[in-house]
Amino acid sequence: MKQLVTTIAVALALAPALSNAEPVKIGFISTLSGPSALLGQDILDGFNLAVEHSGGSLGGREVDLITGDDQLKPDVARQLADRMVLRDKVDIVTGIIWSNVMLAIAKPVLDSGTFVISPNAGPSQYAGVQCHPQYFAVGFQNDVPNEAMGMYMQDEGYDNVYLMAPNYPAGRDMLNGFKRYYKGKVSDEVYTQLGQLDYAAELAQLRAKKPNALYYFISGGPGINFVKQYAQAGLKDSVPLFAPGFSIDQTILPAVGDAGVGAMAASFWSADLDNDVNKKFVADFEAKFKRSPSPYAAQGYDTGMLINSALAKTNGDTSDKKAFQAALEQADFDSVRGNFKFNTNHYPIQDYYLVEVVKDADGKATWKTIKTIVQGHADSYAADCKMASK
Ligand code: PHB
Repeated sequence: MKQLVTTIAVALALAPALSNAEPVKIGFISTLSGPSALLGQDILDGFNLAVEHSGGSLGGREVDLITGDDQLKPDVARQLADRMVLRDKVDIVTGIIWSNVMLAIAKPVLDSGTFVISPNAGPSQYAGVQCHPQYFAVGFQNDVPNEAMGMYMQDEGYDNVYLMAPNYPAGRDMLNGFKRYYKGKVSDEVYTQLGQLDYAAELAQLRAKKPNALYYFISGGPGINFVKQYAQAGLKDSVPLFAPGFSIDQTILPAVGDAGVGAMAASFWSADLDNDVNKKFVADFEAKFKRSPSPYAAQGYDTGMLINSALAKTNGDTSDKKAFQAALEQADFDSVRGNFKFNTNHYPIQDYYLVEVVKDADGKATWKTIKTIVQGHADSYAADCKMASK
């Protein structure tokens, strides 16, 4: 009996240590099939490279990464999230690309006490009144890259710009962001279907309006079709293309080639940003995956590094929610972007660059960073987030 009591006492004393010897469970919900599968693959590959660069673990804990393909369907994502939270008991849910998917899963995941760390989706809803202690956005708030481009196009004197985006929460955020700083005429503001692959009708409409520039947000497979159809319609040379970086990036350029050359974009990251962490990330990503990393890959990498830094601070523990939240808030890692910190609403404060699509020495379309548009830029919703009282 005495021995049994001793054994139980020892087991109890070891319990916290043992729980940290268990892998940290991370639910990775992303789009891994269909025309936009490369976005999810880039985030996943970037994330896994961060784990590799952190010695095969995160904050000293092994990683049990449970992946699920949301097929870009909010209801599929919801089923995956419920299963990961209830059955797999994940500590963190990440991977999410699309704001409509995020808006379908964030509440049930957060209500269960699980952390949500978004590598990409940056809906305005969670940046303001609905901000949440366990919700973090590593990429951007949707409005903000577009604000940067609005600033640039306003400064450059564009005064008749045609606007296009898919009709869903992120599409509306993006164009709202652009209009926050661009004050010229809006030739038209057109909302397409999310996932739409044929833009003939919109392009005919655009041609008739005779704008002097197009500002658009269309990412993934649909973005490839859009850029190709734009060039095929003969519009590329008469109406120059402007976009947030992630709509004319390395998930799109190999498929569109010359059709993208000359486009300008605003991005918080580029492969040519001159810092040591970025150089290693780009070189190792290219060596391992035989393709150029995109901003999605950079965001996946930073998400891994953020989790690594926070787990290191809590000795691998996520059970003390406030402690893990505080560790994440510090964002104590070197981002591939250079300057990066979290605002009070857990969305980034970061710099935005103007990038141009150019041809490299091999004739391959690539990004060239032209200049910094704005430094340390935060979103306009943070003032409505009363995090301290949550
Ligand atoms: C979003 O839905 O929040 C979203 C999706 C794709 C992007 C950027 C934002 O490239």
